[in-house]
Amino acid sequence: MKGIILAGGSGTRLRPLTTITSKQLLPIYNKPMILYPLQTLLTAGIREVLIIVAPNNAGDFLKLLGSGKEYGCKFTYEIQDKPGGLAEAFIIGESFLRHDDVSLILGDNIYEDDFSEAIQSFQGGGRVFAKQVPDPERFGVVEFDEQRRAVSIVEKPAEPKSDYAVTGLYIYDKTVVEKTKNLAPSERGELEITDLNNVYLKEGSLDVAFVKGHWFDTGTFESMYEAITFVRGRELANQ
Ligand code: DAU
Repeated sequence: MKGIILAGGSGTRLRPLTTITSKQLLPIYNKPMILYPLQTLLTAGIREVLIIVAPNNAGDFLKLLGSGKEYGCKFTYEIQDKPGGLAEAFIIGESFLRHDDVSLILGDNIYEDDFSEAIQSFQGGGRVFAKQVPDPERFGVVEFDEQRRAVSIVEKPAEPKSDYAVTGLYIYDKTVVEKTKNLAPSERGELEITDLNNVYLKEGSLDVAFVKGHWFDTGTFESMYEAITFVRGRELANQ
């Protein structure tokens, strides 16, 4: 299992902070944001990680993270020239992935859970992690049938059919690169991860698991503030 951290994008919702640096380098209490998703992959036993960054602050990521030796693993870096969508990570990462399974984590997602079991038990297809949220319209939303089976995933629906958001950790088998190449860009010109998930869902190979602990998508000032408060509480409790 290889890992990808997607840490590009333009961070427009966090301006003016992101005028001078990348969102994923901003502090969450005492550490730059990207160290949290990195830790999630490391805890799950992943040792080969591709870090995808935007061109502007690429050097700062390298300065922060280095070769990976410090973490007992190997880091590879790629540039995403412009935000072409989350699923573009698999096209950018094609030569890194070869034919391995992959866990993709978004550089602005912070999890409390340990995903070792979910990642090590992965056998094929796709696996996503849903979480009940008060504001599902901000996310990809899972629709379930009466037997609680996932029937579709809709990106930022105006009228969500459930309050289960698809969070920013995705596990896929080696067919992910081909599947992504067959996706058409959405109206906003991006390769959508939700479209990819629906391809797996339609072929009956998408497993929807659930996030048990806290989860933060730190893409807004409010959610960043909540994440900082949570991490601070945890750090102080551990002192
Ligand atoms: O956080 C979970 C949500 O992430 C999911 O529920 C949605 O289905 C998924 O589309 C995504 O929604 P966001 O609105 O949070 O996506 P955003 O455009 O903010 O991008 C998420 C992260 O990925 C962010 O750190 C920037 C980075 N990114 C984004 C794009 C579009 C890239 O590195 N490259 C890109 O092309």
